[in-house]
Amino acid sequence: MNETKNKLSGPDFVKGVALSKVTDGAMLLGRAHGEPVLLTRRGDDLFAIGAICTHYGAPLSDGLLVDDTIRCPWHHACFSLRTGAALRAPALDPVSCWRIEQRDGSVYVREKLERAEQMQSPLVPGIPQSVVILGGGAAGNAAAETLRREGYSGRITMLSADASAPCDRPNLSKGFLAGTASAESNPLRPPAFFLEHRIDLKLDAPVATLDTKSRHLQLADGRCVAYDALLLATGAEPVRLDVPGATLRHVHYLRTLADSRALVAKVLTSQRAVVIGASFIGLEVAASLRARNIEVRVVAPDTIPMEKTLGADVGKFIRELHERHGVRFHLGTTAISIDKQSVRLKSGENLQADLVVVGIGVRPVIALAEQAGLAIDRGVTVNEYLETSVPGIFAAGDIARWPDRLTGERIRVEHWVVAERQGQTAARNMLGRCERFDAVPFFWTEQYDFGLAYVGHAERWDRTEIDGQLDAETRDCTITYRRGGKKLAVAVVHRDLEGLRAEVEFETTIETTEWPKLRNTSSCRSRDN
Ligand SMILES: Cc1cc2nc3c(=O)[nH]c(=O)nc-3n(C[C@H](O)[C@H](O)[C@H](O)COP(=O)(O)OP(=O)(O)OC[C@H]3O[C@@H](n4cnc5c(N)ncnc54)[C@H](O)[C@@H]3O)c2cc1C
Ligand code: FES
Repeated sequence: MNETKNKLSGPDFVKGVALSKVTDGAMLLGRAHGEPVLLTRRGDDLFAIGAICTHYGAPLSDGLLVDDTIRCPWHHACFSLRTGAALRAPALDPVSCWRIEQRDGSVYVREKLERAEQMQSPLVPGIPQSVVILGGGAAGNAAAETLRREGYSGRITMLSADASAPCDRPNLSKGFLAGTASAESNPLRPPAFFLEHRIDLKLDAPVATLDTKSRHLQLADGRCVAYDALLLATGAEPVRLDVPGATLRHVHYLRTLADSRALVAKVLTSQRAVVIGASFIGLEVAASLRARNIEVRVVAPDTIPMEKTLGADVGKFIRELHERHGVRFHLGTTAISIDKQSVRLKSGENLQADLVVVGIGVRPVIALAEQAGLAIDRGVTVNEYLETSVPGIFAAGDIARWPDRLTGERIRVEHWVVAERQGQTAARNMLGRCERFDAVPFFWTEQYDFGLAYVGHAERWDRTEIDGQLDAETRDCTITYRRGGKKLAVAVVHRDLEGLRAEVEFETTIETTEWPKLRNTSSCRSRDN
């Protein structure tokens, strides 16, 4: 999935290409001025944009054109064909655009277009004088960047309990741990970025209390920070294992960049690992450890890994995939104690291990919101504008439970792309945009050379349909999850375009569906604050 096709290929658009070849909706991959360029046409309009996604470098020519945008095949970022702007996460940076000239039945790609400089908006009444973002993760970072991109000129303070700047968390269990991703790929932005964009990033700054009446936060070290508008984006924390030996030094969890660095350091001197939990993180860790030639055993109470999320067929495939790579499973059992050399299981087995990684789930970090009296429902309750029960306080990411138009239920998910997109929407709503959050949930996983993308949300389903094949020889399929006949989610393996088409189909369904009538779904208040 992460193989970048950024080699120059195809026609040189500087020399021109026949207009008849650029048909409506077609995508022509070529080059101009030493860069890969995608030439495309929507109606009478022609566009030349950078051909490589700015997230992880996917070839946009394998993506999907939707109106005057293009969607990335790998993780569904969306770029404007007109301006190159990254309209939807996970891409945060734009792609380039080139001027096009039509002459004598040919199309020529001319010079690169300058990006229009963002004008700063004055702090008129209704726009907060200062925004505090509580959390330096996916949602918090995307919100801060969006505020500046939208021209917000007020003070932005980002408070993070993490010791490092916002990082590419999904990569921590994948390339970063396997040793295939460069150290520069994490964190998301260099320190200069925050200075340049006047984002006052305070690291190692855990917040202890939130006072919604005086609009103040108090840090654990006693400092106070005032806010006009607040975004809560405190994410989730790993569930801790509660057995004798669970706090030994060789027992690791994986959430932060510091966790990942500690794990990478430990891996260098380890030979035998036990991964406790067959969750996405547990299994991605198992795959990355195998890439480093470490012996891996996975322990979990489930009988089929991933069955609850992806169904039995995919779960069995994933188990066999790991077994083919040398992983041994100990399922239907749990760890009951850990010592320096081994992990004892309820089944009576004793597994040798000089490294233990625990991935038994996460829980949303909502204590602050709860203590401050915000409405809570297994997460922080927000309306469709991502505003909490207290006006002027928004919530996004792993903590937010929002009214989902597709299922008609309040849902909370733990997905990178959702967290970033919610951060972006919440930021715009702090500026009074009144934008409803109705993006279709999306996540992906990568284990060895296997990648799966999931669109939609099916917490429960009563029927799955598999189109295609998923076994050792052939990995090419679409799995549809339905409840009461209604399509709720689609997972694709090596069918990127189908995943994108499913997203568009869900968006069309959403457009024609009423907003769910749930408590605390209200009109947009942000303009009045
Ligand atoms: C190893 C790993 C791999 C993953 N892989 C994938 C994947 O492949 N695909 C996918 O879709 N999702 C993946 N996820 C999930 C994804 O990373 C999360 O859904 C996403 O990070 C949630 O973003 P967030 O902003 O809500 O929270 P986070 O990114 O967790 O950020 C929360 C922030 O809040 C801060 N914070 C918390 N409490 C306080 C406090 N009291 N005071 C100050 N700061 C505080 C934290 O320090 C942190 O900076 C993965 C997660 C992990 C850990
Ligand atoms: S590579 Fe394009 S969204 Fe990830």
